[in-house]
Amino acid sequence: MGNICTKFGGLQIKSPIIVGSNSQTASVSKLVEFEKAGAGAVVLKSLFEESITREVAANDIDMHPEAYDYLAGYLGEKVLSDYLDLIKQAKAQCSIPVIASIACHTDGKWEEFATRIEEAGADALELNVMSLCTARNYTPGDFEKMHEDIVANVSSRIRIPVIVKIGSNLSNPVALCDRLYAKGAKAVVLFNRFYPTDIDVDKIAFTTGNPFTCAADLSLPLRWAGLVSSAVPAVDLAVSGGVDSWKGVVKSILSGASAVEVASPIIRGGASWISEANDGLEKWQQEKGYESVNDYKGKLNAAEPENADKLMRTQFLKYFSEVH
Ligand SMILES: Cc1cc2nc3c(=O)[nH]c(=O)nc-3n(C[C@H](O)[C@H](O)[C@H](O)COP(=O)(O)O)c2cc1C
Repeated sequence: MGNICTKFGGLQIKSPIIVGSNSQTASVSKLVEFEKAGAGAVVLKSLFEESITREVAANDIDMHPEAYDYLAGYLGEKVLSDYLDLIKQAKAQCSIPVIASIACHTDGKWEEFATRIEEAGADALELNVMSLCTARNYTPGDFEKMHEDIVANVSSRIRIPVIVKIGSNLSNPVALCDRLYAKGAKAVVLFNRFYPTDIDVDKIAFTTGNPFTCAADLSLPLRWAGLVSSAVPAVDLAVSGGVDSWKGVVKSILSGASAVEVASPIIRGGASWISEANDGLEKWQQEKGYESVNDYKGKLNAAEPENADKLMRTQFLKYFSEVH
């Protein structure tokens, strides 16, 4: 069989398929299944900033500010210690890298959490920084600067690789990835996914949209992987969003990603999706005469002017006259 090992954020992984953070990666028995099916690594369900604030809010009674601080600290500690247990159990049961994840949208006290996560044995820490910036008095660039500050603060405190998962609602992911790398990020995941909202027209009310992606969603991360990998080759990339078969894995690597972080098809199809995608990838590599992932990684990224033209194209212009 071919060699599909790769390196992502300083981690040596036996397959570019990483199970992205999702509800199933909070279960150690699922993690074991994913490893058996051939996953290169797993990202644990995120520790959410909101979980901590919600715990505090749920216990909120009219109290003295110092008592409030004490309670907030206690509840934060409870949420964190449950998460540290998950890391320890995952590390005890799995031999593939276990990546912890913090989902944050403010520059909170993540340094302390990150240190504890490192001590619990996580192989890397993924910071999922995502927020909708809607304030009218917002200064463009503030949100990007917050990413940099969080990464700088966390990476100065821990030695395990720091991976940053960014949202697609950023003006220039190339510049941001460059800065995040300068602040200590070893890898960036393109992109996180917003919780989907929808509207029920019968009830005339909001409802939850489809939580899962489809193959068409791959277009956006592919474009940015192609642009970022050529401009900032030092930072490793993972594509996340719309990788629905081995072809999506190949496309991501051709665009310059080292790995993919996959959730929807694994939640829908089970761990066997991973072994099928690994098989498809190996077969394709053999047919094309490639010996390793590095042989074709970035082959279609923006380093070639011809590819850059394709990746930079934003308007449909002649689409309808060309195709129809
Ligand atoms: C049900 C569900 C739960 C998720 N939970 C998290 C999470 O806790 N943290 C996170 O960083 N991403 C989370 N994600 C996002 C996935 O890790 C992934 O980045 C995204 O779904 C795109 O990959 P996909 O196209 O394979 O679904 C979640 C996705 C789904 C569908």
